[in-house]
Amino acid sequence: MPADTGIAEAAAVLRAGGLVAFPTETVYGLGANALDARAAARIFEAKARPSFDPLITHLADAADLPALVGAVPPAVAALVERFWPGPLTLIVDRPEAIPPIVTSGLDTMAVRVPDEPSARALIAAAGVPVAAPSANRFGQLSPTRAEHVVAGLRDAVDVVLDGGPTRCGIESTIVDARGERPVVLRLGALPVEALVEAVGPVTVRPGSSGQPVAPGTLAAHYAPRTPLRLGAAESAPGDGGRRGFLAFREPPAAGAWAAVEVLSAEGDLTAAAARLFDALHRLDAAGVTEIVAESVPEVGVGRAINDRLRRAAATWH
Ligand code: TXA
Ligand code: MG
Repeated sequence: MPADTGIAEAAAVLRAGGLVAFPTETVYGLGANALDARAAARIFEAKARPSFDPLITHLADAADLPALVGAVPPAVAALVERFWPGPLTLIVDRPEAIPPIVTSGLDTMAVRVPDEPSARALIAAAGVPVAAPSANRFGQLSPTRAEHVVAGLRDAVDVVLDGGPTRCGIESTIVDARGERPVVLRLGALPVEALVEAVGPVTVRPGSSGQPVAPGTLAAHYAPRTPLRLGAAESAPGDGGRRGFLAFREPPAAGAWAAVEVLSAEGDLTAAAARLFDALHRLDAAGVTEIVAESVPEVGVGRAINDRLRRAAATWH
C-alpha cells in the first residue's frame, strides 16, 4: 500500500496484533505493537531472528517518551531534545508496559522517533509504541525499498507501506547515554562527529559483537547472499570469473567486472550511505560469484558504511 494513503488501515492491523512494514528515514522497519508480547513474538518468527536480539521501540513524538518511561537522565534528555526526530536510538530503562520479549529480557530498552512523516503518522494512528527491527531476514541486507521487504519477507508481513527509497539508507546510531560518558553501541546514520559536537566526548564501541548489551551488533551481519570481500578495483583476479565491484566514487576500468555499482560519483558520503544497501541488493541479484567492495573515507557517516561492509565481509570468513 502507498505510505500516504494506507496509514489508517495499517494502524488498524498494528492494533489487531499484525505486522506492518513501513519506511523510516533509515531503513524499512517491521513493526508490531510494542505493548503486545504476542505481536512482538511474530516479529522474531517472521525474521527468523534469535530471541536474544532486542528490538527498537518507535514513538510518534519525543513528547511521548516521558509518558512511556518516566524521567530520563539529563544526558539522554539532551540528546532527545537535539536529535529527535532523527536517526538516533537511545537506551533507557525498560518500562513495565513493555513486555520483556521486546527487549530480549534486558532491563533496558532501545527507543527512537523516526524522522519520516508517514512513520510518525502510522505510530500516532496506531496509538501504541511500535517495536520494529529492520524489515529483513536476520543477518541479511537491510531493506531501503518496499521491494526489498517484499522479496525478503513475502507472506510473513500483513501490510507493506511503500514510501519509496529511504533517505539515509543506513540504520540509526545507537547510543547509551545513561553513564558518565555516552557510548556508541552501533555506528549509524547520525555521525559520531554530530554527537561529539552536541554532548562532548563519546566512547565508540562499534566492534561490540558478542557484547551482551547490544547482541544485534554481531560481527557477521548485513550480508548479501553472494560472498563479499573488501578490496580495491585492481584486485580482480584475471581468471574470467564473474565478479561484482562496489565502488565509492570512481568506476573501475571496464572489462574486469561483470557488474559495477558506484555509491556517489561526487564522493558524497551521505549520498553513498543512501545507496549502499540498494547497490548491494543489485549486485546480489546480478548473478556474480563474488562481490568486492571498496572502503570509503573513515569520517562522518563513512564510518557506518565501512562498519556495514566489514560485517558483510565477516560473514564469509
Ligand atoms: O534505523 C534503525 O534503527 C532501524 C529502523 C527500522 O528504525 N531499526 C533497526 O533495528 O536497525 P534492528 O533490529 O535491525 O537493530 C536493532 C539493534 C540491534 O543491534 C539490537 O541489539 C540493538 O538495536 N538493541 C535493541 N535493544 C537494545 C538494548 N536494550 N541495549 C542495547 N542494544 C539494543
Ligand atoms: Mg537489522
